[in-house]
Amino acid sequence: MKRWLRRPLGIGSVTPSSQALGRAMARTALAGLPADSIVVELGAGTGSITRALLAAGVPERSLVPVELDGELHAYLQRTFPSLRLLQGDAARLPDLLVAHNVAPVGAVVSGLPLLAMPGPVVEAIVTGVASVLPPGGALVQFTYGPKSPVPPELLRRLHLEPSRGRRIWTNLPPAVVWRFVRQR
Ligand SMILES: C[S@@+](CC[C@H](N)C(=O)[O-])C[C@H]1O[C@@H](n2cnc3c(N)ncnc32)[C@H](O)[C@@H]1O
Repeated sequence: MKRWLRRPLGIGSVTPSSQALGRAMARTALAGLPADSIVVELGAGTGSITRALLAAGVPERSLVPVELDGELHAYLQRTFPSLRLLQGDAARLPDLLVAHNVAPVGAVVSGLPLLAMPGPVVEAIVTGVASVLPPGGALVQFTYGPKSPVPPELLRRLHLEPSRGRRIWTNLPPAVVWRFVRQR
């Protein structure tokens, strides 16, 4: 709540993602995930999706959460001392992953509030994500809105195929998980 009051557009919601949403994100990320590939989590916040990814079977060595906010990053380090946690900007993901020698990426799971972000920032984030994914790799993103959280024109340009999950009514606010698979 304190961080939302300070930076509402970057935090997106006053409540952490629910367990049901975390489970749905993890299930979607694990579907078709290449063996021994890395799952990158963008905007890990207080770690609710991080926890769900670990509970769903993503090995600690294969999970790399990224968080921009210094205090939340420090909190995550205390909470998940054996994870490789990166502090940095999701809009500079390719550079961040190269700098920390993170490869090969199989899926990117995002808790970022894309709908609240300016168009050019969303474009930078999704373009960077598409560039680190292999063909068949997926971006998994939740949204509270009725439409895709990534504009269709950007999806077409980046060869990302969207599919929409069911709405999770027990999350506050109710959320939908989208999967964007890189076609080539
Ligand atoms: C909706 S919150 C994430 C909630 C998280 N899944 C949870 O349940 O606690 C969004 C998070 O994205 C982070 N964030 C916002 N912009 C970012 C960026 N450009 N790069 C990395 N993280 C960012 C915020 O600091 C915040 O922790």
